[in-house]
Amino acid sequence: MRDAVSTTAPTAQPGTPADGLAPVYAQYPFEVASAEGVWLVSARGERVLDLYGGHAVAALGYGHRGWTEALIAQARACQFQTNAIPMPIRARAARRLLEFSGLDFASVFLVSTGAEANENALRLALRMTSRPHVAAVEGAFHGRTAAASAVTWGAEAWYGFPRKPFDVSFMPRGNLAAIDEHVTERTAAVIVEPVQGLAGAVDLGAQYLWALRRRCDQVGALLIFDEVQCGFGRIGAPFAATLYGVAPDMISTAKALGNGFPVAALLTSAKVSATLKVGLLGTTYGGGPMACAALLAALEAIESEGLLGNVRRVSDYIRRTCVVGPVTATQGEGFLLGLRTSAPAKHVQAELLRRGILTGTATDPNIVRLLPPFILQEQHVDLLRDALTGIGA
Ligand SMILES: Cc1ncc(COP(=O)(O)O)c(C=O)c1O
Repeated sequence: MRDAVSTTAPTAQPGTPADGLAPVYAQYPFEVASAEGVWLVSARGERVLDLYGGHAVAALGYGHRGWTEALIAQARACQFQTNAIPMPIRARAARRLLEFSGLDFASVFLVSTGAEANENALRLALRMTSRPHVAAVEGAFHGRTAAASAVTWGAEAWYGFPRKPFDVSFMPRGNLAAIDEHVTERTAAVIVEPVQGLAGAVDLGAQYLWALRRRCDQVGALLIFDEVQCGFGRIGAPFAATLYGVAPDMISTAKALGNGFPVAALLTSAKVSATLKVGLLGTTYGGGPMACAALLAALEAIESEGLLGNVRRVSDYIRRTCVVGPVTATQGEGFLLGLRTSAPAKHVQAELLRRGILTGTATDPNIVRLLPPFILQEQHVDLLRDALTGIGA
């Protein structure tokens, strides 16, 4: 078994229609055949350290026994039933997620994707307020559906729909003075990623989130935290709302929630929950028993294996040891980290992959983004540090 990706084409290449797959994703130059812990093994036997976790999804890493067994057991017991037929596992998943959040939310609507959670959050806010406008933040990514992409920064390049379903304005990131002008009596909701993901692990911080909460209360708008990427333990706390002590009206979350099984959720406050009634929201797969088993197993592992503490400790170690070679600084929180690079991030990413380490990039061209599984250890970080040192400044 070789220990690095040897390739002459280290940067992602466009997929080809010959695959049979729609050619909409640039392709990395290796195929994954299997995986264990934090390691991917390619079809050619190359071992790759995964610091990207499949876009922040593989929270428990690969081959986690408890999660795998929970899915097998649920598949044997009953793999699916509609939300209209009660199942104890569904109620347990909702209750445990609410408890885990440590926040005062009243109910959970289980769905399958982050965009779906955001779409429903926006719908509820627009319906509750009968207002025409949503404020978002520059650099934000909220998904690919009509409403979620309407509040995504820079989506014009691919939006495609003839018009947005509501008025949108984008606030300059972290600018407290600009909030009042964007969030007014016309505003139904503010949607914000407390730690922006695709933008490059940009932590908007407690002060900014508090200012959004205050302004929403002043004008009667709802505050939505999109914690699809930063939530469910990724930043070393259950949610950013928990970490910063700022309570939004809704939290959307996904990715780590299912550890690879499609699971997403919309947590709603008592005020929002009070407006829900039969027929208002719906989904086929959301809240299915397999999804609930995946969520419960992920929660159980995070709590019983002390993974929030692990994320905080190892994140701190990355920040202390990995400002070497092309890395000039770090940003973000927990395991949603950005390494600021003097060279273009795509070049550094390709060099790391050549050395057997998978990382991500961001819309900021000088950020290498790390989204590793929560089980990552210091010895893995040492491999990253040595590889960065080898690349040189
Ligand atoms: C912050 C954020 N919101 C929403 C989404 C969309 O989630 P999904 O791809 O599951 O629809 C993503 C996906 O990357 C995300 O990072």
